[in-house]
Amino acid sequence: MTMLVGPASRTLTDAAVAALQAPSVLNTQPWRWHVERGTASLSADPSRRLARIDPDRRLLVLSCGAALHHACVTLAAGGADFAVELLPDDRAPDLMAIIRYRGETEPSPAAQRLRDAIAARRSDRRPFSGTRVPEAALERVRDAAQRAGARLHLVRAEELVEVIAAAGRSAAEEMADPAYRAELLAWLRPPGVGRDGVPVDTIARPGLRPVPIRDFTAAGYVPAIYSDADVTDREARYGIVVTDGDGPADWLRAGVTLSAVLLAATAEGLATSAMSDLVEEPTARVTLRRMLGNVGHPAVGVRIGVPAPGPLPRRAPRRPAAEMVEVVAELARG
Ligand SMILES: Cc1cc2nc3c(=O)[nH]c(=O)nc-3n(C[C@H](O)[C@H](O)[C@H](O)COP(=O)(O)O)c2cc1C
Repeated sequence: MTMLVGPASRTLTDAAVAALQAPSVLNTQPWRWHVERGTASLSADPSRRLARIDPDRRLLVLSCGAALHHACVTLAAGGADFAVELLPDDRAPDLMAIIRYRGETEPSPAAQRLRDAIAARRSDRRPFSGTRVPEAALERVRDAAQRAGARLHLVRAEELVEVIAAAGRSAAEEMADPAYRAELLAWLRPPGVGRDGVPVDTIARPGLRPVPIRDFTAAGYVPAIYSDADVTDREARYGIVVTDGDGPADWLRAGVTLSAVLLAATAEGLATSAMSDLVEEPTARVTLRRMLGNVGHPAVGVRIGVPAPGPLPRRAPRRPAAEMVEVVAELARG
């Protein structure tokens, strides 16, 4: 008898490793994979929940959804046939999803485009260029969201004031809270240090833009990734991922959809950064809900635009696969 990892588990392991590149709130990477006998189980890691920012663990679950989507894109791009079960066990709330490998099929060209975007995507918090985002590209991004299971509401010019209000409400309440500032600081990392958290050389000034972004500079770091004061982010577009309900299954689908939006936008040559500050405070969520006509629940915001000239921000680091992906070998005759 020898121990080996069969082809199905190997394919799933490759997908789980590719999914380590998924975005997560403050780059907490709050998940683990367990691969065994042709199934890959994705579990949330509650020890990485953000106690102040994410008391209900919606952003933790959303981040797991993004990892799940990255894995599924990788499988479909490689020609795997598979089935996904979300939240398969009521008694195990941390078990987010099980992927079951079913065999080989035709590789999906659409998935291959998104798989290529995994390597190119990064959060770009710089102000975007003054070039308008083509409406047709935004519509394709919106279609990608629809296929992924939730709705992407593209904010219209006349609605922008509500987004500004939501960002302002969250910022005012969060910045006034020492627990928030401490949590933010705990997840900021000096350049090149650590395997999680937000590197300070990827943060940007929140001001000088119509819609302020999360103020990472409040922790005392001076942003270094842009200096061009006349770039004002005026052509940034905003999307809100909207779910029907407001429970764990909805948050998971919202994470899948967020990933679909970010990868589809990247494949269009656009730059993105997620904005969960818009939904972190109840008052901000109420503001966005009203903007949506009280239909559905705002799960997370996305900023989309044409990237500014100059070097792209560097990619944030990731935790090593050996910590995140457990693979159980199988017994074989021999
Ligand atoms: C659920 C979720 C919420 C996020 N919220 C914010 C945010 O409010 N502001 C921000 O600048 N980035 C936000 N991000 C982006 C993460 O900080 C980023 O994905 C992570 O640091 C990894 O970096 P990368 O996207 O460059 O790979 C969020 C990402 C996710 C998945």
